[in-house]
Amino acid sequence: MTTMSTTSTTTSHLPPAAAPVATPAKDHPAKDRPAKDRPAKNRILTGDRPTGPLHLGHYFGTLQNRVRLQNEGMDLFLVIPDYQVLTDRDVADRLTEHVEGLVLDYLAAGVDPSRATIFTHSAVPALNQLLLPFLSLVSVAELGRNPTVKDEIAHSRQAAVSGLMFTYPAHQAADILFCKADLVPVGKDQEPHLELTRTIARRFNERYGPVFPQPRTLLSEAPLLLGTDGTKMSKSRGNSIALRASSDDTARLIRGAKTDAVRRISYDPEGRPEVSNLVLLTALCQGRSPYEVAAELGDGGAARLKAVATEAVNAHLAPLRARRAEYAQDLSYVRGLLRAGNARANEVAERTLAEVREAMGSPS
Ligand code: TRP
Repeated sequence: MTTMSTTSTTTSHLPPAAAPVATPAKDHPAKDRPAKDRPAKNRILTGDRPTGPLHLGHYFGTLQNRVRLQNEGMDLFLVIPDYQVLTDRDVADRLTEHVEGLVLDYLAAGVDPSRATIFTHSAVPALNQLLLPFLSLVSVAELGRNPTVKDEIAHSRQAAVSGLMFTYPAHQAADILFCKADLVPVGKDQEPHLELTRTIARRFNERYGPVFPQPRTLLSEAPLLLGTDGTKMSKSRGNSIALRASSDDTARLIRGAKTDAVRRISYDPEGRPEVSNLVLLTALCQGRSPYEVAAELGDGGAARLKAVATEAVNAHLAPLRARRAEYAQDLSYVRGLLRAGNARANEVAERTLAEVREAMGSPS
């Protein structure tokens, strides 16, 4: 279970927890840290756009990591970036449903509601206000060079690129810096935003005095899972297996997955990406090596591979799905949790904004 008392908060006067291996103390020399308002334990912040249910790619890519760090005693903040949904579309559809669905996915995956802070952008005005001074610290050219933003523009179906598309990485810096996060577990595509966040923190501190720590990126070590069509697993491509999917839906999706005609099963992600992906999925669910799984399947062919993968996914997700279904019975609990998370995020954001205004010489 947990190594920290569940009653301790970030403002607790307990001595700092021993630094987890992920964050060597040398990265945060005490002199670079503001004296006030440092959390007693390392703080993690990450989040997911509320555009649809989380799937197995999210689970093995980042959700498991977050839960592990939480269970090691780190203080977990989860932003549900509702404003960020508007970067590549005109309206944020079915927002309440998607936000509540994300909270359910988090709880299902093992996020501890008594310790984590789950909040939405739009409920935290002081966080949003940080965007303005932050934008003054970056150039238009820097915003325009961001490779992830460029890629999103290339794939966007919008007729025109909005100002939010260019500036959302600076807004994401506010997500991370308002709570002075130490560690941000994300996929590789988020690295440019983390780079910008560190730049903003450094420039702010140089210009106005030390307020922000330098957050570190924590990249997942799990290899990338593909969707059932052999391309990147994505909420919007209809090729993903949602955490909340039923066993029957899971079976149907895996039965329809692309494979090849070679009977002998092998793990060769380069040469046989689709077959290897099902082998990998089975291995991740069973906590084994994909080579071992492939060897065991031998000449079983795609039908056997699919049967084994389905069984492995459904067995691994069964407790998680049961937990999700239980929480889904009580949406008023989920809403209360969000209200509490928003209240906590507001407190933290107001404290940080007060420090920022003081550092900048704004009259109090
Ligand atoms: N950009 C992230 C995504 O598309 C979501 C996100 C918003 C985020 N704010 C964040 C991730 C802060 C980590 C930290 O998935």
